[in-house]
Amino acid sequence: MTTLETLERETLAAIDAANDDAALEAVRISALGKKGAISELLKTLGAMSPDERKAQGPLINGLRDRVSAALAARKAALGQAALNARLETERVDVTLPVRPVGMGRIHPVSQVADEVQQIFADMGFAVAEGPDIEDDETNFGKLNIPPEHPARQMHDTFYLKPQADGVRYLLRTHTSPVQIRTMLQQRPPIRVIVPGRVYRCDSDQTHTPMFHQVEGLVIDETTHMGHLKWVLEEFCKAFFEVPQVRMRFRPSYFPFTEPSAEVDIQCDRRGSELRFGEGKDWLEILGCGMVHPKVLENCGIDPHRYQGFAFGAGLDRLAMLKYGIPDLRPMFESDLRWLKHYGFAALDIPSLAGGLAR
Ligand code: PHE
Repeated sequence: MTTLETLERETLAAIDAANDDAALEAVRISALGKKGAISELLKTLGAMSPDERKAQGPLINGLRDRVSAALAARKAALGQAALNARLETERVDVTLPVRPVGMGRIHPVSQVADEVQQIFADMGFAVAEGPDIEDDETNFGKLNIPPEHPARQMHDTFYLKPQADGVRYLLRTHTSPVQIRTMLQQRPPIRVIVPGRVYRCDSDQTHTPMFHQVEGLVIDETTHMGHLKWVLEEFCKAFFEVPQVRMRFRPSYFPFTEPSAEVDIQCDRRGSELRFGEGKDWLEILGCGMVHPKVLENCGIDPHRYQGFAFGAGLDRLAMLKYGIPDLRPMFESDLRWLKHYGFAALDIPSLAGGLAR
């Protein structure tokens, strides 16, 4: 009898002392497993005489039941303790401020390029591109600016070392060479805009050696200056987000357009911010004109059948005007503080569903 009592005491103590599931399982196996102490005792019942079995049966079975119950109780207690510990460590403090997510910003020039493309896409313009390194003939010659033409002096060109074959490469000084490339590749009707980098050897508050332009080109059989005015007016209203804007076309000169004009838009400079679509002041925003017949001819397009217009504006300048950026130079200095201040959250890009009436 003492052995049963001792076995019970020791087993219950071991159950109590088991601190995790593995230790508890070890105790269970040593007591109730196939070869466990209590299982062995149960096996002896079969060999006993009926009287002996009557006396020992309830004792051994009782032992087994109490040990089983103790095992179950300890298992439940351990489970509860583990759960409590997990809840303790995994507790979510909903009063904590959200951790900031480091998101990049869209550069104002990229933002404005997207806006401009969007507005012109609504008017049926495709986007064309050309290389930054351009040959002299495409940047100047075919645009009716022959060598020694005084207009070349206005362009402060970065030239590359002359090639053995005589072709002179340069960093394009405007996006107009893409007019040439487009007209050499496509037949009219043509309707494209060309956003891109251009280079001029110049640097001060309003000039950087690299800056951005957006060119426009429309060629077909009936396009005239009235269309040019309408397109630019629709663009300015959509871009500056005003219902009306007055524009002034001042006669000007570009070798590749005839007639040529510079366009001013109405603005109000009183007060701290520049406002568009109101006021008595004027601000120059782009150059434009009807594509010169010689340029069409240079591209193999019959000027007696086709005509059209072109315009060119500074993208950086448009960004500065619309978003109140006072100095051009920091645009290209990659200072993150500047970008954080003037940049746009990725989701501010106008959606494709937007239209002129935005
Ligand atoms: N290419 C001209 C410039 O850079 C701008 C322009 C483009 C003028 C198209 C007329 C037509 O100054």
